[in-house]
Amino acid sequence: MYKKISTKKLQPGMYIVDTGIPWLDNPYLYSADTEVTEALVKTILNDGFLEVYIDPDRSQLQIDYDALEIIENPPAEPAAEPDAQAEESAPATTGYPMPDIPILAEMDAARNTYVCALEQAQTFMDGIRRNDNVDLRKAKPLVDDMLKSLGRNQDALMSLCKLRSRDDYTYSHCVNVSVLGAAFARHMGFPPEIQHAAGMAGIFHDLGKAQVPLDILNAPRALTEQEFAFLRKHPRMGYEQVKKTPGFSQDILMGVYDHHERFNGHGYPRGVSGEAVSVTGRILAIADVYDALSSNRSYKEAIVPHRVLGIMYQMRGEDFFPGYMEHFIRMLGIYPAGSVVEMQDGTVGVITGSNSATPTRPRVLIVRDAEGYPCRPVEIDTNLPEVPAIQRCLTPAETDVDATLLLGVY
Ligand SMILES: [Fe+2]
Repeated sequence: MYKKISTKKLQPGMYIVDTGIPWLDNPYLYSADTEVTEALVKTILNDGFLEVYIDPDRSQLQIDYDALEIIENPPAEPAAEPDAQAEESAPATTGYPMPDIPILAEMDAARNTYVCALEQAQTFMDGIRRNDNVDLRKAKPLVDDMLKSLGRNQDALMSLCKLRSRDDYTYSHCVNVSVLGAAFARHMGFPPEIQHAAGMAGIFHDLGKAQVPLDILNAPRALTEQEFAFLRKHPRMGYEQVKKTPGFSQDILMGVYDHHERFNGHGYPRGVSGEAVSVTGRILAIADVYDALSSNRSYKEAIVPHRVLGIMYQMRGEDFFPGYMEHFIRMLGIYPAGSVVEMQDGTVGVITGSNSATPTRPRVLIVRDAEGYPCRPVEIDTNLPEVPAIQRCLTPAETDVDATLLLGVY
Protein backbone atom coordinates (compact mmCIF):
# COMPACT_ATOMS: atom_id res chain seq x y z
CA MET A 1 0.00 0.00 0.00
CA TYR A 2 1.51 3.30 -1.09
CA LYS A 3 1.83 6.17 1.42
CA LYS A 4 1.66 9.82 0.45
CA ILE A 5 4.16 11.84 2.48
CA SER A 6 5.60 15.35 2.56
CA THR A 7 8.88 15.75 0.62
CA LYS A 8 10.31 17.23 3.85
CA LYS A 9 10.06 13.73 5.39
CA LEU A 10 12.00 12.04 2.57
CA GLN A 11 15.03 9.99 3.64
CA PRO A 12 17.62 7.97 1.70
CA GLY A 13 16.51 4.37 1.40
CA MET A 14 12.85 5.14 0.82
CA TYR A 15 11.34 4.15 -2.52
CA ILE A 16 9.26 6.70 -4.50
CA VAL A 17 6.66 5.43 -6.96
CA ASP A 18 5.42 6.85 -10.23
CA THR A 19 1.69 7.39 -9.74
CA GLY A 20 1.00 8.34 -13.32
CA ILE A 21 -0.78 11.48 -12.08
CA PRO A 22 -0.14 14.22 -14.67
CA TRP A 23 2.08 17.03 -13.44
CA LEU A 24 -0.52 19.52 -14.59
CA ASP A 25 -3.07 17.89 -12.28
CA ASN A 26 -0.73 18.12 -9.30
CA PRO A 27 2.43 20.14 -9.97
CA TYR A 28 3.54 19.66 -6.35
CA LEU A 29 3.72 15.87 -6.58
CA TYR A 30 7.08 14.32 -7.49
CA SER A 31 6.46 11.14 -9.42
CA ALA A 32 9.07 8.58 -10.49
CA ASP A 33 9.94 4.96 -9.77
CA THR A 34 13.18 5.42 -7.91
CA GLU A 35 15.08 4.82 -4.71
CA VAL A 36 15.71 7.96 -2.67
CA THR A 37 19.27 9.22 -2.36
CA GLU A 38 20.56 12.28 -0.53
CA ALA A 39 21.13 14.04 -3.85
CA LEU A 40 17.60 13.25 -4.99
CA VAL A 41 16.09 14.69 -1.80
CA LYS A 42 18.00 17.92 -2.43
CA THR A 43 16.81 18.09 -6.03
CA ILE A 44 13.17 17.40 -5.15
CA LEU A 45 13.14 20.10 -2.46
CA ASN A 46 14.99 22.58 -4.70
CA ASP A 47 12.50 22.01 -7.48
CA GLY A 48 9.63 22.92 -5.17
CA PHE A 49 7.85 19.56 -4.97
CA LEU A 50 5.77 19.12 -1.82
CA GLU A 51 4.51 15.52 -1.91
CA VAL A 52 5.57 12.03 -2.99
CA TYR A 53 4.09 8.54 -2.87
CA ILE A 54 6.29 5.98 -1.10
CA ASP A 55 6.17 2.20 -1.43
CA PRO A 56 7.15 0.83 2.04
CA ASP A 57 7.53 -2.71 0.60
CA ARG A 58 10.30 -1.63 -1.79
CA SER A 59 11.97 0.78 0.67
CA GLN A 60 15.29 -0.19 2.24
CA LEU A 61 14.49 2.03 5.19
CA GLN A 62 12.25 0.24 7.68
CA ILE A 63 10.32 2.80 9.71
CA ASP A 64 6.71 3.46 10.62
CA TYR A 65 5.39 4.88 7.34
CA ASP A 66 1.87 5.24 8.72
CA ALA A 67 3.15 7.95 11.06
CA LEU A 68 4.49 9.97 8.12
CA GLU A 69 1.46 9.66 5.91
CA ILE A 70 -0.42 12.80 4.87
CA ILE A 71 -3.97 12.08 5.98
CA GLU A 72 -5.49 15.51 5.44
CA ASN A 73 -4.54 16.14 1.86
CA PRO A 74 -4.57 19.73 0.66
CA PRO A 75 -7.39 20.44 -1.78
CA ALA A 76 -6.53 18.99 -5.17
CA GLU A 77 -5.43 21.40 -7.83
CA PRO A 78 -8.23 22.09 -10.26
CA ALA A 79 -7.90 20.21 -13.52
CA ALA A 80 -5.81 22.17 -15.93
CA GLU A 81 -8.59 23.14 -18.24
CA PRO A 82 -8.98 26.72 -19.40
CA ASP A 83 -11.87 28.37 -17.65
CA ALA A 84 -14.88 29.95 -19.25
CA GLN A 85 -13.33 33.42 -19.33
CA ALA A 86 -10.32 32.16 -21.26
CA GLU A 87 -12.49 30.15 -23.61
CA GLU A 88 -14.49 33.23 -24.45
CA SER A 89 -11.50 35.33 -25.34
CA ALA A 90 -9.25 32.73 -26.92
CA PRO A 91 -10.05 30.51 -29.84
CA ALA A 92 -9.92 26.75 -29.46
CA THR A 93 -6.38 25.38 -29.43
CA THR A 94 -5.08 23.60 -32.43
CA GLY A 95 -4.50 20.48 -30.32
CA TYR A 96 -1.26 18.58 -30.67
CA PRO A 97 -0.50 18.37 -34.36
CA MET A 98 2.40 16.14 -35.23
CA PRO A 99 5.31 18.19 -36.59
CA ASP A 100 5.78 18.02 -40.35
CA ILE A 101 9.45 17.06 -39.98
CA PRO A 102 11.69 15.86 -37.10
CA ILE A 103 13.39 18.49 -34.93
CA LEU A 104 16.85 17.53 -36.14
CA ALA A 105 15.84 18.08 -39.78
CA GLU A 106 14.60 21.60 -38.95
CA MET A 107 17.58 22.72 -36.87
CA ASP A 108 19.62 24.31 -39.71
CA ALA A 109 16.73 26.47 -40.93
CA ALA A 110 15.74 27.35 -37.37
CA ARG A 111 19.31 28.32 -36.47
CA ASN A 112 19.57 30.52 -39.56
CA THR A 113 16.31 32.31 -38.69
CA TYR A 114 17.35 32.69 -35.05
CA VAL A 115 20.76 34.18 -35.90
CA CYS A 116 19.24 36.66 -38.40
CA ALA A 117 16.67 37.72 -35.80
CA LEU A 118 19.43 38.20 -33.23
CA GLU A 119 21.38 40.50 -35.57
CA GLN A 120 18.22 42.44 -36.38
CA ALA A 121 17.27 42.85 -32.72
CA GLN A 122 20.73 44.27 -32.04
CA THR A 123 20.43 46.67 -34.98
CA PHE A 124 17.06 47.92 -33.71
CA MET A 125 18.10 48.35 -30.09
CA ASP A 126 21.54 49.88 -30.72
CA GLY A 127 20.25 52.06 -33.58
CA ILE A 128 17.54 53.61 -31.44
CA ARG A 129 19.98 54.15 -28.58
CA ARG A 130 22.21 56.08 -31.04
CA ASN A 131 19.20 57.98 -32.45
CA ASP A 132 19.77 56.49 -35.91
CA ASN A 133 17.01 56.19 -38.43
CA VAL A 134 15.95 52.57 -37.92
CA ASP A 135 13.43 50.85 -40.19
CA LEU A 136 11.48 48.54 -37.88
CA ARG A 137 9.57 47.10 -40.86
CA LYS A 138 12.61 44.88 -41.51
CA ALA A 139 11.32 42.64 -38.73
CA LYS A 140 8.37 41.47 -40.86
CA PRO A 141 10.15 38.91 -43.11
CA LEU A 142 11.96 37.58 -40.05
CA VAL A 143 8.72 36.91 -38.21
CA ASP A 144 7.35 35.29 -41.40
CA ASP A 145 10.35 32.92 -41.36
CA MET A 146 9.85 32.19 -37.65
CA LEU A 147 6.25 31.19 -38.20
CA LYS A 148 7.21 28.96 -41.14
CA SER A 149 9.85 27.20 -39.03
CA LEU A 150 7.41 26.79 -36.13
CA GLY A 151 4.92 25.30 -38.58
CA ARG A 152 7.43 22.67 -39.72
CA ASN A 153 8.60 21.77 -36.19
CA GLN A 154 8.05 24.18 -33.31
CA ASP A 155 10.58 22.50 -31.01
CA ALA A 156 13.55 23.42 -33.25
CA LEU A 157 13.28 27.20 -32.96
CA MET A 158 12.06 27.04 -29.36
CA SER A 159 15.04 24.89 -28.32
CA LEU A 160 17.35 27.65 -29.58
CA CYS A 161 15.64 30.10 -27.21
CA LYS A 162 16.97 28.01 -24.36
CA LEU A 163 20.42 27.44 -25.68
CA ARG A 164 21.69 30.89 -26.53
CA SER A 165 24.99 32.29 -25.43
CA ARG A 166 24.99 33.72 -21.95
CA ASP A 167 26.35 37.20 -22.68
CA ASP A 168 23.83 38.57 -25.14
CA TYR A 169 20.73 38.72 -22.94
CA THR A 170 19.48 42.12 -24.15
CA TYR A 171 19.12 40.98 -27.76
CA SER A 172 18.44 37.27 -27.30
CA HIS A 173 15.67 38.10 -24.84
CA CYS A 174 13.89 40.13 -27.57
CA VAL A 175 14.21 37.26 -30.04
CA ASN A 176 13.11 34.65 -27.49
CA VAL A 177 10.03 36.62 -26.49
CA SER A 178 9.25 36.99 -30.19
CA VAL A 179 9.65 33.25 -30.93
CA LEU A 180 7.77 32.15 -27.80
CA GLY A 181 5.05 34.76 -28.36
CA ALA A 182 4.46 33.77 -31.99
CA ALA A 183 4.54 30.06 -31.10
CA PHE A 184 2.14 30.58 -28.21
CA ALA A 185 -0.35 32.58 -30.31
CA ARG A 186 -0.13 29.83 -32.92
CA HIS A 187 -0.59 27.07 -30.34
CA MET A 188 -3.68 28.81 -28.95
CA GLY A 189 -5.21 28.93 -32.41
CA PHE A 190 -5.25 32.72 -32.78
CA PRO A 191 -5.55 33.93 -36.39
CA PRO A 192 -2.38 34.52 -38.43
CA GLU A 193 -2.46 38.30 -37.93
CA ILE A 194 -2.32 37.86 -34.13
CA GLN A 195 0.44 35.24 -34.43
CA HIS A 196 2.42 37.68 -36.55
CA ALA A 197 1.68 40.63 -34.26
CA ALA A 198 2.87 38.64 -31.23
CA GLY A 199 6.14 37.87 -33.02
CA MET A 200 6.64 41.51 -34.07
CA ALA A 201 5.72 42.92 -30.66
CA GLY A 202 8.07 40.38 -29.08
CA ILE A 203 11.08 41.72 -30.98
CA PHE A 204 10.15 45.29 -30.07
CA HIS A 205 8.79 44.74 -26.57
CA ASP A 206 11.78 46.19 -24.68
CA LEU A 207 12.74 48.81 -27.27
CA GLY A 208 11.82 51.49 -24.73
CA LYS A 209 14.84 50.37 -22.70
CA ALA A 210 17.02 51.92 -25.41
CA GLN A 211 16.01 55.25 -23.85
CA VAL A 212 16.99 54.16 -20.35
CA PRO A 213 20.61 55.12 -19.47
CA LEU A 214 22.91 52.06 -19.44
CA ASP A 215 24.08 52.81 -15.90
CA ILE A 216 20.50 52.31 -14.72
CA LEU A 217 19.85 49.32 -16.98
CA ASN A 218 23.03 47.47 -15.95
CA ALA A 219 23.27 48.76 -12.38
CA PRO A 220 24.77 45.99 -10.18
CA ARG A 221 22.85 47.42 -7.22
CA ALA A 222 19.29 48.09 -6.12
CA LEU A 223 17.78 50.95 -8.10
CA THR A 224 16.61 54.12 -6.37
CA GLU A 225 12.88 54.77 -6.34
CA GLN A 226 13.29 57.41 -9.04
CA GLU A 227 15.39 55.14 -11.25
CA PHE A 228 12.90 52.33 -10.85
CA ALA A 229 9.99 54.61 -11.72
CA PHE A 230 11.83 55.68 -14.88
CA LEU A 231 12.58 52.06 -15.85
CA ARG A 232 8.90 51.22 -15.51
CA LYS A 233 8.14 53.70 -18.24
CA HIS A 234 9.90 51.55 -20.85
CA PRO A 235 6.71 49.88 -22.21
CA ARG A 236 5.19 53.30 -22.91
CA MET A 237 8.42 54.65 -24.42
CA GLY A 238 8.66 51.54 -26.61
CA TYR A 239 5.07 51.98 -27.72
CA GLU A 240 5.75 55.61 -28.69
CA GLN A 241 8.80 54.52 -30.66
CA VAL A 242 7.06 51.68 -32.53
CA LYS A 243 4.02 53.88 -33.24
CA LYS A 244 6.21 56.11 -35.46
CA THR A 245 6.46 53.31 -38.03
CA PRO A 246 3.59 53.55 -40.52
CA GLY A 247 1.47 50.46 -41.08
CA PHE A 248 1.97 48.67 -37.77
CA SER A 249 -1.26 47.20 -36.40
CA GLN A 250 -2.82 48.05 -33.06
CA ASP A 251 -2.09 44.45 -31.99
CA ILE A 252 1.65 45.07 -32.43
CA LEU A 253 1.56 48.43 -30.65
CA MET A 254 -0.49 47.20 -27.71
CA GLY A 255 1.66 44.08 -27.30
CA VAL A 256 4.62 46.39 -26.65
CA TYR A 257 2.57 48.64 -24.37
CA ASP A 258 1.02 45.82 -22.29
CA HIS A 259 3.81 43.27 -21.85
CA HIS A 260 4.15 44.16 -18.15
CA GLU A 261 0.41 44.42 -17.47
CA ARG A 262 -1.08 41.71 -15.25
CA PHE A 263 -4.48 40.03 -15.20
CA ASN A 264 -5.09 41.21 -11.62
CA GLY A 265 -4.24 44.82 -12.45
CA HIS A 266 -0.93 44.85 -10.54
CA GLY A 267 1.18 45.47 -13.63
CA TYR A 268 2.43 48.63 -15.32
CA PRO A 269 2.43 51.19 -16.92
CA ARG A 270 -1.37 51.34 -17.34
CA GLY A 271 -2.30 49.12 -14.39
CA VAL A 272 -5.32 47.78 -16.26
CA SER A 273 -6.79 44.34 -15.51
CA GLY A 274 -8.73 41.46 -17.10
CA GLU A 275 -10.10 42.01 -20.58
CA ALA A 276 -8.60 45.51 -20.71
CA VAL A 277 -5.14 43.96 -21.25
CA SER A 278 -4.62 43.45 -24.99
CA VAL A 279 -4.44 39.88 -26.30
CA THR A 280 -0.88 40.35 -27.56
CA GLY A 281 0.03 41.84 -24.17
CA ARG A 282 -1.30 38.75 -22.37
CA ILE A 283 0.69 36.47 -24.66
CA LEU A 284 3.93 38.43 -24.32
CA ALA A 285 3.63 38.73 -20.52
CA ILE A 286 4.00 34.95 -20.26
CA ALA A 287 6.77 34.70 -22.86
CA ASP A 288 8.66 37.57 -21.15
CA VAL A 289 8.52 36.11 -17.61
CA TYR A 290 9.38 32.60 -18.83
CA ASP A 291 12.47 33.76 -20.71
CA ALA A 292 13.63 36.10 -17.93
CA LEU A 293 13.37 33.43 -15.22
CA SER A 294 15.07 30.74 -17.29
CA SER A 295 18.02 33.00 -18.23
CA ASN A 296 21.37 33.55 -16.58
CA ARG A 297 21.76 37.16 -15.47
CA SER A 298 24.59 38.95 -13.71
CA TYR A 299 22.57 38.90 -10.49
CA LYS A 300 21.00 35.45 -10.68
CA GLU A 301 21.54 31.96 -12.00
CA ALA A 302 19.11 30.58 -14.54
CA ILE A 303 16.31 28.46 -13.11
CA VAL A 304 15.77 25.18 -14.98
CA PRO A 305 12.76 25.49 -17.33
CA HIS A 306 10.97 22.62 -15.61
CA ARG A 307 10.95 24.60 -12.36
CA VAL A 308 10.16 27.93 -14.06
CA LEU A 309 6.97 26.39 -15.43
CA GLY A 310 6.09 25.17 -11.93
CA ILE A 311 6.60 28.67 -10.49
CA MET A 312 4.58 30.31 -13.27
CA TYR A 313 1.82 27.72 -12.94
CA GLN A 314 1.27 29.00 -9.42
CA MET A 315 0.87 32.54 -10.81
CA ARG A 316 -1.92 31.51 -13.19
CA GLY A 317 -5.22 33.36 -12.89
CA GLU A 318 -3.51 36.14 -10.90
CA ASP A 319 -0.65 37.51 -12.96
CA PHE A 320 -1.60 35.65 -16.11
CA PHE A 321 -4.91 35.43 -17.86
CA PRO A 322 -6.91 32.35 -16.74
CA GLY A 323 -6.20 29.33 -18.89
CA TYR A 324 -3.20 30.83 -20.69
CA MET A 325 -0.51 29.31 -18.46
CA GLU A 326 -1.93 25.82 -18.86
CA HIS A 327 -1.77 26.21 -22.64
CA PHE A 328 1.79 27.54 -22.43
CA ILE A 329 2.93 24.49 -20.46
CA ARG A 330 1.23 22.17 -22.91
CA MET A 331 2.98 23.93 -25.77
CA LEU A 332 6.46 23.69 -24.27
CA GLY A 333 6.04 20.32 -22.60
CA ILE A 334 7.09 19.97 -18.98
CA TYR A 335 10.66 19.37 -20.16
CA PRO A 336 11.11 21.91 -22.99
CA ALA A 337 13.22 20.92 -26.00
CA GLY A 338 16.88 21.70 -25.38
CA SER A 339 16.75 20.89 -21.65
CA VAL A 340 19.68 18.75 -20.50
CA VAL A 341 18.51 15.90 -18.28
CA GLU A 342 19.97 13.06 -16.22
CA MET A 343 18.22 9.73 -16.64
CA GLN A 344 17.57 7.23 -13.87
CA ASP A 345 20.31 4.96 -15.20
CA GLY A 346 22.85 7.81 -14.91
CA THR A 347 23.06 8.61 -18.62
CA VAL A 348 22.68 12.23 -19.74
CA GLY A 349 20.69 13.53 -22.69
CA VAL A 350 19.05 16.49 -24.39
CA ILE A 351 15.27 16.76 -24.77
CA THR A 352 14.38 16.70 -28.46
CA GLY A 353 10.59 16.80 -28.29
CA SER A 354 7.59 16.20 -26.11
CA ASN A 355 4.90 13.57 -26.14
CA SER A 356 1.93 15.88 -25.73
CA ALA A 357 -0.28 13.23 -24.18
CA THR A 358 2.40 12.25 -21.65
CA PRO A 359 4.46 15.41 -21.07
CA THR A 360 6.63 13.85 -18.35
CA ARG A 361 7.93 11.30 -20.87
CA PRO A 362 9.50 13.18 -23.80
CA ARG A 363 12.01 12.05 -26.42
CA VAL A 364 15.64 12.35 -25.33
CA LEU A 365 18.91 12.28 -27.27
CA ILE A 366 21.34 10.37 -25.01
CA VAL A 367 24.85 11.82 -25.33
CA ARG A 368 26.73 10.71 -22.18
CA ASP A 369 26.98 7.21 -20.78
CA ALA A 370 26.43 6.38 -17.11
CA GLU A 371 30.13 7.09 -16.38
CA GLY A 372 29.86 10.55 -17.93
CA TYR A 373 31.75 9.75 -21.13
CA PRO A 374 30.47 11.01 -24.50
CA CYS A 375 28.68 8.26 -26.40
CA ARG A 376 27.25 7.89 -29.88
CA PRO A 377 24.02 9.96 -29.73
CA VAL A 378 20.92 7.77 -29.59
CA GLU A 379 17.38 9.16 -29.49
CA ILE A 380 15.02 7.35 -27.12
CA ASP A 381 11.32 7.71 -26.41
CA THR A 382 10.86 7.64 -22.63
CA ASN A 383 7.20 6.83 -23.15
CA LEU A 384 8.14 3.31 -24.24
CA PRO A 385 8.33 0.51 -21.64
CA GLU A 386 11.74 -0.42 -20.24
CA VAL A 387 13.28 2.91 -21.22
CA PRO A 388 14.78 4.76 -18.22
CA ALA A 389 12.75 7.72 -16.98
CA ILE A 390 14.10 11.23 -16.41
CA GLN A 391 15.68 11.70 -13.00
CA ARG A 392 16.18 15.48 -13.06
CA CYS A 393 17.02 18.55 -15.14
CA LEU A 394 20.65 19.67 -15.04
CA THR A 395 21.55 23.35 -14.68
CA PRO A 396 24.16 24.80 -17.08
CA ALA A 397 26.67 24.78 -14.20
CA GLU A 398 26.21 21.04 -13.73
CA THR A 399 26.91 19.94 -17.27
CA ASP A 400 29.38 20.44 -20.08
CA VAL A 401 26.87 19.21 -22.66
CA ASP A 402 26.64 21.71 -25.52
CA ALA A 403 23.05 21.06 -26.49
CA THR A 404 23.10 23.66 -29.29
CA LEU A 405 25.96 21.88 -30.99
CA LEU A 406 24.42 18.46 -30.50
CA LEU A 407 21.04 19.43 -31.88
CA GLY A 408 22.75 21.17 -34.77
CA VAL A 409 25.14 18.47 -35.91
CA TYR A 410 23.40 15.25 -35.13
FE1 LIG B 1 9.94 44.86 -20.45
